Amino acid sequence: MPIVTIDDIKIEVPEGTSILQAARMIGGDIVPPTMCYYSSLKTSGGYCRTCIVKVEQGSAKDPRPIPKPVASCRTTVMDGMVVRNITSPENLEARAGVVEFLLLNHPLDCPVCDQAGECHLQDLSYENGKSETRYEFPRREFDPIDIGDKIKLHMNRCILCYRCVKVADQITDGRCHGVINRGEAAEISTYIEQAIDNDFSGNVIDVCPVGALTDKTFRFKSRVWYTKPLDAHRDCKKCSGKVRLWYQGEEVLRVTARKDEWGEVEKNEAGNADWICNECRFDKKEAKDWTIDGPTKVDRHSVISANHYEGLKMIKADTLRMMGAKPHGIKVELGEGALDPNNK
Ligand code: SF4
Ligand code: FES
Repeated sequence: MPIVTIDDIKIEVPEGTSILQAARMIGGDIVPPTMCYYSSLKTSGGYCRTCIVKVEQGSAKDPRPIPKPVASCRTTVMDGMVVRNITSPENLEARAGVVEFLLLNHPLDCPVCDQAGECHLQDLSYENGKSETRYEFPRREFDPIDIGDKIKLHMNRCILCYRCVKVADQITDGRCHGVINRGEAAEISTYIEQAIDNDFSGNVIDVCPVGALTDKTFRFKSRVWYTKPLDAHRDCKKCSGKVRLWYQGEEVLRVTARKDEWGEVEKNEAGNADWICNECRFDKKEAKDWTIDGPTKVDRHSVISANHYEGLKMIKADTLRMMGAKPHGIKVELGEGALDPNNK
C-alpha cells in the first residue's frame, strides 16, 4: 500500500486513494477544504480548485515535484509522495486566489441569506480568503427562480460546483436540471424553470455549499443559530427516514439529511449516502411524526458549534498527531518537525 506524507504526517493508504481522502483519514487542520467534491456523488470534484495542494515529491520512484498546485480531490497518491497543504505558504496564497475568484460574482447578502451560519463559502473565505476584493466590474445578476413549489434558486449565489447537477443526474430519475451556457454566462437551469418533480429532488438543497438552493418551507423563518438540531427517524418506505430536525421551541422549522464532519450527507453501513425523500423533508414537520434519537453532535465548525466543539476538535487533532495515533484504524506516523509551528 502506498505511503504518502501530508504536512509532515505519514500515512499508509489503500491503492487508488486520492490525496484528499488520505488527508481526511489523518483528519484535523491539514485536510484541504472542498466546495465541489462530494464523496457520495460520482465524478464530483475538479471544478472549484479550493482543495489544491503542493506536491513536493511526486513519488519515491520519480521524486520530481509537480510544478503547479494540484486538485487533491482528483489526484491519486503515489508511494513516497510528499504533499504540503497548510505548511506551504505558496499553497495558501494560491488558495486565497481561488477564493477571490469564487467570490468575484458572489453577492455580499449573507445578512439576508438562509445559508448564513452553515455556508461553506463563508467558512472558506473567512479561513482562506482575503478581506478585500480587487474586482471592479459589475457582478452578474439573475432573478430568483422557483424550482417547483419547494425549492428556490438564487443563481447570483451559485459557484457552479455542479453538486446539484450530480444529484439530479444520479439520485433522481428523469434529469431536467443542469448547467446551460458557458463561462461568464453559465447558469444552473431546469430547462425553462421546469419543476424537478420526483421524490429525491430536495437533496439538491443539502448538497449546495452556498445559499443558491434553499428550502422554501424554511426560508426566512429563522437564522440557523437560533434553532436546535436533533437527530430523529421514522419508518419511511422511500428513504432511510434518518433525518435532522431543526427545532425552534416546540416547532420543527426544517428537516434535513444528517451531515458528517465534512458537511456531506452521512453514509450507512453499506457506504451509501442516506439521502432523504421529499415527503420526510417537506411534509413531516410535526414532532409526532418522528422518533427522536438525541441531540445532534455538530462536528463541523459552524456558528451552531461555535465555542463548543471547535476547541475540542483542535485538541483532538493535535493530540492524535502527538501520539502518532491511528484515526479510522489507519497507520499514522509523525514526521520530523510536524509539530513545529515555525515549520513552513
Ligand atoms: S446551485 Fe448550489 S449546488 Fe448547484 S452548482 Fe450552484 S452552488 Fe453548486
Ligand atoms: S473540491 Fe477539489 S476541485 Fe473542488
